[in-house]
Amino acid sequence: MTQSPKTVYLLAIESSCDDTSAAVFRNDENLANLVATQDIHRLYGGVVPEMASRAHLQNIIPVVDAAMQKAGIALDQLNAIAFTRGPGLIGSLLVGTTFAKGLALTLGLPLIEVNHMQAHVLAHFIEDPKPSFPFLCLTVSGGHTQIVLVRSYLDMEVLGNTTDDAAGEAFDKTAKILGLPYPGGPLIDKYAQLGNPKAFTFGKPKVDGLDFSFSGFKTSVLYAIQKQQKQDPEFIAHNLNDLCASIQRHIIEMLMDKLELAAKEHNIKEIAIAGGVSANSGLRKAINETGQRLGWNTYIPRFEYCTDNAAMIGITAYYKYLKGEFTTQDVSPVARYAI
Ligand code: KG4
Ligand code: ZN
Repeated sequence: MTQSPKTVYLLAIESSCDDTSAAVFRNDENLANLVATQDIHRLYGGVVPEMASRAHLQNIIPVVDAAMQKAGIALDQLNAIAFTRGPGLIGSLLVGTTFAKGLALTLGLPLIEVNHMQAHVLAHFIEDPKPSFPFLCLTVSGGHTQIVLVRSYLDMEVLGNTTDDAAGEAFDKTAKILGLPYPGGPLIDKYAQLGNPKAFTFGKPKVDGLDFSFSGFKTSVLYAIQKQQKQDPEFIAHNLNDLCASIQRHIIEMLMDKLELAAKEHNIKEIAIAGGVSANSGLRKAINETGQRLGWNTYIPRFEYCTDNAAMIGITAYYKYLKGEFTTQDVSPVARYAI
């Protein structure tokens, strides 16, 4: 079938951590975005890399097939294959990269490599309303916490980074202290809605500039709880909602303080959040309230585009396709991959 040169069909694959996802795009229109999550890691209190890569191997063909079917697109209509090159778990990345390379080779198609963190930011361009350039994006996930200055689709600069744990890890590790299963972020969010955010005060590490630190906070929560348990062995059970609300308040304050500082320093009022932690209801509320106070235009992606998904890889690949940014068959994944 001959295609109008203006219509581009892209298949995008995301396999950087524990979600196997495939998306199909017609230009910048998302036709399908399917995610296979791996529940096995719940049993271990965190992602087990070896198990994640094995599960990707099992999931990748069914997920790609289902996405193509949902989009109503045949393999011979595709114009390029996109994949997450990094950052992420190397074994997980290898599955998506190798699959994309094999499919592109078989179909004689170009390959497009995508940076996972750049893709989290560009998830804002899957649907309206879209931020205008330049904007700031607070990207908060299980592996990363960054404030990114976005000058155009593919021109980004990281202004601030975590010096230790990511915000998602701060949620997950404190949840583990509370005895909650992995991933604890959504559970802290759920219980926090029933608790008093001012009930407890923990230590907040001080970091210069626009960088973040969360590991000292996690330790402060642990020590505070251990101290209370000496008087009341059931302290966590008796105070779960208040503990979750207080933990969530601290993490949000640490994020918002730096975001406010970045917005002020760079005189930018277009402010976005991205990544799994942007699903947090308290953070979404804080962004909107601070936005109203400071006259920001705020952008929060739909839930399915906050956590890991291939649609964000697809939209990034579309802009790379327009610029002719293709990758060669000798590409290999990169676990640490700067924006
Ligand atoms: O972006 P993502 O899906 O995967 C990574 O690239 O890491 O982010 C996963 C992280 C986990 O740490 C999870 O606990 C956190 O996002 N998360 C949340 C919420 N939903 C997901 N954290 C707090 N509140 C939520 N509602
Ligand atoms: Zn992610």
